[in-house]
Amino acid sequence: MKIKTVPTQPFDDQKPGTSGLRKKVKVFQQPNYLENFVQSIFDSLPDTQGACLVLGGDGRYFNREAIQIIIKIAAANGFSHLIIGQGGLLSTPAASHLIRKNQASGGLVLSASHNPGGPDEDFGIKYNVSNGGPAPEKYTDEFYRQSKIISEYKIAEIEDIDLDSTGEQQIETFKVTIVDPVDDYADLMNQIFDFPLIKKTIESGDITLCFDAMHAITGPYAKRIIEKMLGAKTGSVINATPLPDFGGGHPDPNLAHAKQLADLMFSSDAPTFGAASDGDGDRNMILGNNIFVTPSDSLAIMAANAQLIPGYNRGIAGVARSMPTSQAVDRVAEALDIACYETPTGWKYFGNLLDAGKITLCGEESFGTGSNHVREKDGLWAVLFWLNLLAKTGQSVSDIVHQHWQKFGRDIYSRHDYEAVDLTLANGIFDYLREQLPSLPGKNFGKFTVKFADEFSYQDPVDGSISKNQGIRIGFEDGSRMVFRLSGTGTVGATLRIYLEKFESDPALQDQDAQIALADLIDLAEQLCEIKKRTGRDTPTVIT
Ligand code: G1P
Ligand code: ZN
Repeated sequence: MKIKTVPTQPFDDQKPGTSGLRKKVKVFQQPNYLENFVQSIFDSLPDTQGACLVLGGDGRYFNREAIQIIIKIAAANGFSHLIIGQGGLLSTPAASHLIRKNQASGGLVLSASHNPGGPDEDFGIKYNVSNGGPAPEKYTDEFYRQSKIISEYKIAEIEDIDLDSTGEQQIETFKVTIVDPVDDYADLMNQIFDFPLIKKTIESGDITLCFDAMHAITGPYAKRIIEKMLGAKTGSVINATPLPDFGGGHPDPNLAHAKQLADLMFSSDAPTFGAASDGDGDRNMILGNNIFVTPSDSLAIMAANAQLIPGYNRGIAGVARSMPTSQAVDRVAEALDIACYETPTGWKYFGNLLDAGKITLCGEESFGTGSNHVREKDGLWAVLFWLNLLAKTGQSVSDIVHQHWQKFGRDIYSRHDYEAVDLTLANGIFDYLREQLPSLPGKNFGKFTVKFADEFSYQDPVDGSISKNQGIRIGFEDGSRMVFRLSGTGTVGATLRIYLEKFESDPALQDQDAQIALADLIDLAEQLCEIKKRTGRDTPTVIT
């Protein structure tokens, strides 16, 4: 195999964010941009010689071209085996599973998750390590360091690989295996959940459902598992064909972006269960007939009922949630007498806890839930968890949620996002918040008295590593909380996230609309951060 060494210049903007490197497609299409980043990753790894790498993406615009380039750079850097999803497709959780199952040294997943796709939209690339999870900071820092000093990359001069036929292709000692992207993942789901029971309940008509794949990667997965294996009627999976631009939509499963599904679930024709997943298949939204389950509640409900699911019937070791996620799961952990960890935002912080067996379930308010079955959050897994729960209990989504609130209380929750804010203005808002932190504790704002105000810092209980500046938290004596963070996944300006939460133990008040119940807290957040005043915006870009 002929290997070419190409001289290159560093780019100064290849710092991975919350989940890999995300940029506009046009940025990735610049000569050497993708090549530099991939070579920087490989330069950071101690063990590319003879190693096995999993490769696939969510099918967004530039996926196939990027895969062909990466194959050639991997071959030139000594990898001996690549496992690639047919058509270049792999959902993020399926990639995580393939890394673990094949004991690969790692994987590259091409996705910008829930960000839009297309020639003028976003592309992304993330590296996952041998446990199947996102590369921890010590890796991503090294990728960035290499990207700043890179002077050449290596690329094999070989023909493009046929990505569409499953099977093996061998070029000298370099082997490429094209696998069906769904097979292994579907087997794993079948091991965790009671497929015969779910199938019976769906076929009897006791569960009716709609799953919105949002023209993204979960289409083929959901078609196979929900329609074919679990017997849901053809057409139960909507927007099932992955498209390079996700049909022009924003493949983020929330009430704003999965509007077709949301409209159906809040209509008189609503099925009993509705769900959606995102661009790369790791997020989920859960709905019942006329009810939306917040991701924070979903995590708490899963933890409280895990013993009903075959894969978790021996109980769960512990739980973890990202810091801005509501404290609903903390209450369940307390009742079950198991540990509950509060981690910074981003799935990579759960990896060590899962590997060490300290937790079984974990989740984030950003529509992410998962377990120790892989090392990524997993959209379809969460959907199947709920389907199994409905089938096992015979209850509706609404009954399950209301019973949970009655028992544990409700953490009324909402997140307000302000997207594409001018960077200088955003930094000003954070400086202003930081200045106030020392003087806030003990201060009264109407009925709210500040209990604590700090900038979150996390020490990993397994390896002792410390992550600082992970968001500003302000907690109040009555248990209410607000968190301010800057997004690490946005690609235009700054995205400011405000997370608001209030505990309600009185069942008579638990059914309130979250925006109304949180109105006082929302006003106070503005008073403290002045985002509307400083940016001139009168409403958030997205409310979830
Ligand atoms: C967002 C979410 C975070 C999630 C990440 C990747 O990151 O808030 O919980 O892990 O996407 O899906 P952010 O843009 O807030 O940095
Ligand atoms: Zn995603």
